[in-house]
Amino acid sequence: MTPALRTVRLKVNGAAVEVSVEPRRLLADLLREDLGLLGTHLGCEHGVCGACTVLLDGEPVRSCLMLAVQTGGAEIATVESLAGDDGLHPLQEAFRAHHALQCGFCTAGFLLTAVHLIRQNPGIADEAEVREALSGNLCRCTGYQNIVDAVLAAAATMRSAL
Ligand code: FES
Ligand code: FES
Repeated sequence: MTPALRTVRLKVNGAAVEVSVEPRRLLADLLREDLGLLGTHLGCEHGVCGACTVLLDGEPVRSCLMLAVQTGGAEIATVESLAGDDGLHPLQEAFRAHHALQCGFCTAGFLLTAVHLIRQNPGIADEAEVREALSGNLCRCTGYQNIVDAVLAAAATMRSAL
């Protein structure tokens, strides 16, 4: 028997969204399959790799571990929210400038984790702190050094714009 659908109202990247979903529907599937936001990637699908990270009310969450019905009333930000009319987000620019991605599969998760880190700690300039903050995101390509360099560079750029 098909489970009864539930109506969920939330905001995604600033837009009001109302969807009917099965209670078991994952937030990642809601974003990718129902809303077509394919920037959120699914790697391990059990909370290990961080590729599926999005911001929920400003906090990073694993969208592969969260049910869509848990997000009622919340504001979700995906990687699609970062670039604006005036171009890429400073973190995206820094990732490009520092060659902080190769295949790019992990990148959206890193970017959103880093957005949260810099919002929490705009003065961050310590490599060890960045590494610790990003330790829940796995990258199979880069060796991490360029990602760390990019995050530190973006934090400095964002500070200078204040
Ligand atoms: S796909 Fe969600 S943590 Fe890996
Ligand atoms: S750039 Fe390929 S997994 Fe990170």
